Amino acid sequence: MGYIGSHTAVLLVQAGHQVHIYDNLCNSNASTLERIQRITSRDIGFTEGDVRNTEKLADVLRNEKIDAVIHLAGLKAVGESSQKPIEYYANNVQGSISLIQAMQSAGLSTLVFSSSATVYGDPVYLPYDEDHPTKPTNPYGRNKLQVEEMLRDLSVSDQAWRIACLRYFNPVGAHESGLIGEDPNGIPNNLMPVIGQVVSGKLAALNIFGDDYDTPDGTGKRDYIHVMDLAEGHLAALTWLEANPGCHIFNLGSGDSFSVLDLLRHFEEASGQSIPYQAVGRRPGDLPEYYAKADKAAKLLGWKTKQSLSDICESAWLWIKHSQNN
Ligand code: UFG
Repeated sequence: MGYIGSHTAVLLVQAGHQVHIYDNLCNSNASTLERIQRITSRDIGFTEGDVRNTEKLADVLRNEKIDAVIHLAGLKAVGESSQKPIEYYANNVQGSISLIQAMQSAGLSTLVFSSSATVYGDPVYLPYDEDHPTKPTNPYGRNKLQVEEMLRDLSVSDQAWRIACLRYFNPVGAHESGLIGEDPNGIPNNLMPVIGQVVSGKLAALNIFGDDYDTPDGTGKRDYIHVMDLAEGHLAALTWLEANPGCHIFNLGSGDSFSVLDLLRHFEEASGQSIPYQAVGRRPGDLPEYYAKADKAAKLLGWKTKQSLSDICESAWLWIKHSQNN
């Protein structure tokens, strides 16, 4: 019921699927469930539980007659993963082992795994395609890669498995209702939630981490993808897996990249607000630029992004306005 899970749940329900959410609420809020229900006008099943509680998870899978799992139960702050690596390995790697064991015990073998473009590390070439070497530079990225490798081994050992590992680029934006969006606990690290806090007056200005990169305006460039496009990617992968056993990797990105200043300008336009900013030093570990080659998802899943940077900023602004009033 976190950021990506809540948007994906809405889309799945609207596509006619029945959804049951399992979440320990460590980085999400129980009120999101009520919001998902408001958007979809449907009751959504929910169990509060930790992904490492294998027995509880297996019981839910059996009792709810689940036939496929989307695994988004991961800690995801890159900086924090270097400060608390064991917590990250325990939640992200051990949690994934627990989920697979629960699925085995419940007789399930269809899984969509939330991976990340961060598995690639420093670009050897751009855009990253799925065959680009993987050399993550932080514990969070290594967690994602280890789980991918484990899933590949699993699919070789047992051909019943149907697994899609989705390497997300930079998910941003919110549902068009303005009822759900990214709502991180504590001080945000990522660009869009920080911009949100600046326009809401919680932060005085956006600190731009480096304006001396070798990019047209000197700020870092990323492949921003609307979270509802990302949700569509999960649905497309689930559908495709019905006819395709094995373990498959897909980039989910737009194939384009925008700078921090591009995002800021689009957000100013969408919101009619001016966003104060200042350039500060580079953030350790940041790359100048990366973006996806998303041809594989287009060819096999029939999926590509539909929403522009303006759509992204308009939806994010709606969510911010809505959160301010609630
Ligand atoms: N940035 C700023 N100021 C901020 C925050 C970010 O200038 O306050 C800049 C960054 O330097 C970077 C860009 O905005 O150039 C995007 O930064 P984010 O922190 O939003 O995103 P990252 O590209 O660093 O990382 C994100 C996710 C990771 C994921 C990765 C995958 O946070 O979990 O994308 O590509 F692994």
